[in-house]
Amino acid sequence: MEVEDDHRRKELLVLVVIVVLASLSLVSLLVAFSYYCYISNKVSKRLKIRKRVDLEDEGSFANVEKNSTEKGLQVFTFKQLYSATGGCSKSNVIGHGSFGCVYRGVLNDGRKVAIKLMDQAGKQGEEEFKVEVDVLSRLHSPYLLALLGYCSDNNHKVLVYEFMVNGGLQEHLYPVRRSNSVSVKLDWETRLRVSLEAAKGLEYLHDHVSPPVIHRDFKSSNVLLDKDLHAKVADFGLAKIGSDKAGGHVSTRVLGTQGYVAPEYALTGHLTTKSDVYSYGVVLLELLTGRVPVDIKRAPGEASLVSWALPRLTDREGVMHIMDPALEGQYSMKDVVQVAAIAAMCVQPEADYRPLMVDVVQSLVPLVRSYRTTSKIGSSSSSSASKSPTAHDKASSRD
Ligand SMILES: Nc1ncnc2c1ncn2[C@@H]1O[C@H](COP(=O)(O)OP(=O)(O)OP(=O)(O)O)[C@@H](O)[C@H]1O
Ligand SMILES: [Mg+2]
Repeated sequence: MEVEDDHRRKELLVLVVIVVLASLSLVSLLVAFSYYCYISNKVSKRLKIRKRVDLEDEGSFANVEKNSTEKGLQVFTFKQLYSATGGCSKSNVIGHGSFGCVYRGVLNDGRKVAIKLMDQAGKQGEEEFKVEVDVLSRLHSPYLLALLGYCSDNNHKVLVYEFMVNGGLQEHLYPVRRSNSVSVKLDWETRLRVSLEAAKGLEYLHDHVSPPVIHRDFKSSNVLLDKDLHAKVADFGLAKIGSDKAGGHVSTRVLGTQGYVAPEYALTGHLTTKSDVYSYGVVLLELLTGRVPVDIKRAPGEASLVSWALPRLTDREGVMHIMDPALEGQYSMKDVVQVAAIAAMCVQPEADYRPLMVDVVQSLVPLVRSYRTTSKIGSSSSSSASKSPTAHDKASSRD
């Protein structure tokens, strides 16, 4: 009997052990299964987010590419542009402005380009980059510098332009600090033609584009010269789009370059196309006098080009007095007096008294044409020391 009891107790114990073990393995199985569910849920969520980001990235990249292709701009990788500049080599630096360094570069297809690399990430730089791409992708004129493409990744903002062999106009009018370019002596005919081509660039922005565009940073360093010394207007990073000529814009932050900013814009922030006309007048004065707009090293009363020149622009003797000595008197006095009168009107302190760019162009066209005719007659009688026929012919074809 006792043996039987003992046997039953043993059987019960074994059963209990089996049940406990079975429950334990069931519980651990359940725990393992829920942990598996938890982990796989987390992983799939992460994958979903990554996929969405990838899709967004693909979408935005596709958009940029699509837009840029539509706009005729090429999207470059930084690697492509880095190699085009010989690794941003110092020997390829052709200038430096507020946006960053400008390099000479050669693209894979052999095209020579100017590559402008933003050197400091900042709100102003990013904004200028955006406006430059936006404006230049929509506007095309033989008198505006062409933007060929850009690179815009997380770390780099780079603009790729057509290369203008003779660089900025200012480099040829007066010695420029830190410039490693060779300056060319600009004769009167070239100066006349440059003033007409630059005027046509602004006329295009103000009158041929709807809504009009105000350049806001027109100056001699933003007038670039090609191999034949033909001019194109550059740098639209500060441009204001969609302003109507009458109303204009009122901004609290005045942008532009000292010496070129119209007085009403500097004082009140009131920006119109007439602000560009003022800046154009200053460049015209630089072409006439060969002087910098602001030079504090000059004698008292001569530091500001506009204040010094304006009272002298309206009489013959005064004009003679301000002319660039580098021209060595080789100009027609009649033309000079007319150009001086245009400059005087452009730099009027009162915006309403300034002409429209279309008027400036109309006044300059006959001067350039008549100069060409006279110099042709001159060269046929072999008495004129003028420019090469190539430059001449090209000028005619662009009018
Ligand atoms: N497309 C180009 N081809 C040849 N040279 C260029 C070109 N773009 C710019 N440069 C050269 O680089 C110089 C610097 O140009 P950048 O526009 O960066 O500055 P800036 O106009 O002198 O001054 P800011 O930045 O104040 O406008 C120019 O003066 C010119 O000599
Ligand atoms: Mg510039």
